[in-house]
Amino acid sequence: MNPENLLLETDGAVALIRLHRPKQLNALNDALMDELGAALARFDADDDIGCIVLTGSERAFAAGADIAAMAPKTFDQVLREDFISRNWEQILRVRKPVIAAVAGYALGGGCELAMMCDFIIAADDARFGQPEIKIGIIPGAGGTQRLPRAVGKSKAMDMVLSARMMDAQEAERSGLVSRVVPAARLLDEAMDTARTIAAFPRQSVMMAKECVNRAYSAPLADGLLFERRAFHSLFATHDQKEGMDAFLAKRAPKFENR
Ligand code: CAA
Repeated sequence: MNPENLLLETDGAVALIRLHRPKQLNALNDALMDELGAALARFDADDDIGCIVLTGSERAFAAGADIAAMAPKTFDQVLREDFISRNWEQILRVRKPVIAAVAGYALGGGCELAMMCDFIIAADDARFGQPEIKIGIIPGAGGTQRLPRAVGKSKAMDMVLSARMMDAQEAERSGLVSRVVPAARLLDEAMDTARTIAAFPRQSVMMAKECVNRAYSAPLADGLLFERRAFHSLFATHDQKEGMDAFLAKRAPKFENR
């Protein structure tokens, strides 16, 4: 079934997902998050796809969880339906890289969704914030945990407690985004990066992603051991032999993702 709140396309080995609720600045409601989870799972399972780009519009990546949908909810209801956990976290189960291409506002759940991607490329007009405090709640999709890991405690506290937004330049200085590009170049830059990643051996890409993520969930010694064993295991692949032979023979490698 075609999603109503997303635009999906593929370009070679890259899948592009655009959040598409333009009238609400891509505010994230259950319908959109269900569709996003399904699209991500589908592209993750598709052998022809090697990398996924997630973007919004020129005006907003996403202005947060849908406030109109949340306003009438009660404690009992959000607890029973496990609001957020139920359908927002599919993105964390995707094993292929997901790049967030952020232009305009990435606020509240929008900022949190971008942080759940593997890295963020920002347009020079991007603005990041966790303004939930202004509407009587707090970040609920990981903002109080991922933001301090990305930008440090002081800036995270500043943003979460005062609702101050960060512009793209500050976000890059602080380590929240990997690079800032002119707004008109954002999608080209993200797609080019995704194509580069998708051309590398799939098994190396997936293991590299898993290893970097371990840095956030495991003590250093366990993360290092996890990395070492993943590194060792790649010597069992065709593409390791091919990559190294090609380098030594000064020719382009022909990877087969095996
Ligand atoms: N939910 C629902 N609708 C939203 C929305 C949101 N998060 N953000 C914007 N909209 C809607 C507005 O209501 C408005 O709709 P109408 O045209 O029907 O009035 C439309 O999008 C355009 O918005 P504005 O007129 O407000 O546009 P602006 O340019 O003046 O301001 C903005 C843009 C600064 C992003 C402002 O819309 C804003 O502050 N939005 C709310 C941001 C926010 O609080 N996000 C956190 C939500 S809570 C959350 O995300 C919880 C969590 O952790 C998961």
